[in-house]
Amino acid sequence: MPLLTIAGLPGPPLHVPVGGTVLAAIHAAGHAWWHACGAKGRCTTCRVRVAQDAEVLSPPTAPELRYRAAGRLGEHERLACQARVAPEVEK
Ligand code: FES
Repeated sequence: MPLLTIAGLPGPPLHVPVGGTVLAAIHAAGHAWWHACGAKGRCTTCRVRVAQDAEVLSPPTAPELRYRAAGRLGEHERLACQARVAPEVEK
């Protein structure tokens, strides 16, 4: 199961199951994390900055690209409700 390090998230790196979202992994690890739109990619409250191992994640989704183009999502940031561990990743 891939590990992911999220900036500002206490504790060890997250175990994110293949195909699972970063938001689900954060919640499964017992952390509270904003998700105002209900994980639909319609806000940026679930935004995370991936400090390490970003290569295990799926490419940015359409909502993420839209927020990046609008300057509301940084280069190293992802929407936790949209970013998933890519199926081809084994780490
Ligand atoms: S919870 Fe709104 S974009 Fe992720």
